[in-house]
Amino acid sequence: MIEVVVVGAGMTKFGENWESSFRQMIADAAIKALVDSGLAGEKIEAIYGGCMASGRFIGQEHIGALIADQLGLNPIPSTRCEAACASGGVALRSGYLAVKSGEHDIVAVGGVEKMTDVSTEDASFALGGAGDQETELFHGATFPSLYALLARRHMIEYGTTEEQMAMVAVKNHKNAANNPNAQFQSEVTLEEVMNSGYVAEPIKVLDCSPVTDGAAAVILCSKEKAEALGMKYIEMAASEQASDTISLAARKSLTELRATMEAARKAYKKAGITQEDVDFAEVHDCFTIAEILAIEDLGFFKKGEGGIATEKGLTALNGKIPINPSGGLKGKGHPVGATGVAQAVEAFNQLMGRAEKRQVKNAEIGLTHNVGGSGATAIVSIFKKAGVKK
Ligand code: COA
Repeated sequence: MIEVVVVGAGMTKFGENWESSFRQMIADAAIKALVDSGLAGEKIEAIYGGCMASGRFIGQEHIGALIADQLGLNPIPSTRCEAACASGGVALRSGYLAVKSGEHDIVAVGGVEKMTDVSTEDASFALGGAGDQETELFHGATFPSLYALLARRHMIEYGTTEEQMAMVAVKNHKNAANNPNAQFQSEVTLEEVMNSGYVAEPIKVLDCSPVTDGAAAVILCSKEKAEALGMKYIEMAASEQASDTISLAARKSLTELRATMEAARKAYKKAGITQEDVDFAEVHDCFTIAEILAIEDLGFFKKGEGGIATEKGLTALNGKIPINPSGGLKGKGHPVGATGVAQAVEAFNQLMGRAEKRQVKNAEIGLTHNVGGSGATAIVSIFKKAGVKK
């Protein structure tokens, strides 16, 4: 059976990248990943690129072809993958499947979004496309307000507090301060988060991921080829995807994301591990409540105990299960199409032991979790340090 490995990773700095164009960011991230792998570009056989809403943000569609052209890699096939904020995760999984199936030996996976060229109102409208137009956006709902519904329900059913949600932001800003590619390089206090003003009660400004520009890329390869070429690598043990209703109104429960649970169940099985074996996770904290839902739905904590686990420091860099050592979407930034790939970049850096000040000690198995919209798409991928037998 073909095994898939990651042989290189790179990303631009995330933030307000006014000095860099959409296509320049693609090139910067891809070249960093290629240089990291030691491969020449002509070895790449196909490209999978995640991008959510470039038409709305910068008026540019046809991203697959644009990426190949920009990288000088015509005429290889180059495909855009779109699943709202999970676009990068779907690109990653598509690249994984292309190698796993034997169709390609070496592929490039990228993700990109340029969101700050428009006003916050226009960005909000563009992001709204991830929700259900008929039952949500048409009636004035925004993404902060949809996650506010999930937060309110979690507070009612499990007693989760606004302070516990704020602690997710404090932790992730702290991790981001140790990540030179993060949008926010400064810590925030609990008081600052609590006083940051409601966007959609109970979600405050500092409970939100920001609006971000950025790109990320990884190079995937068959293990056989990587060994033949003498490349360093980490193993990609699973990449699973699941779907759920787009509309929150159609969900049976507002305190769990079923797509996450299903993707995780399949990913653990495929990788031959349980959640107990995971040493760190990059999860989709587009809002602080989303991290609390994720750490429960991925099985790290019982349903309803994600808030208290955060409060006890169990998800801190030196905690029981470090969550979002990169700073997550909250601290590192959330260029929606790039996020799922940037999570894989962090997994690569952690498992290669080169995450510097934010290095998770003895990290052997890492998980990435990327969500589209309010949970209609979820991708869970599992990575292992080379040679780990678990
Ligand atoms: N976290 C931390 N700081 C933030 C921030 C956030 N989410 N959003 C803005 N800021 C900071 C900015 O860096 C800026 O700081 P500065 O004055 O030091 O430069 C300041 O706040 C004002 O920024 P501005 O861009 O004017 O904020 P805004 O009020 O227009 O936007 C939000 C704030 C919360 C509305 C916006 O960040 C947002 O919409 N976030 C959610 C994005 C989203 O929905 N993503 C998809 C998830 S599914």
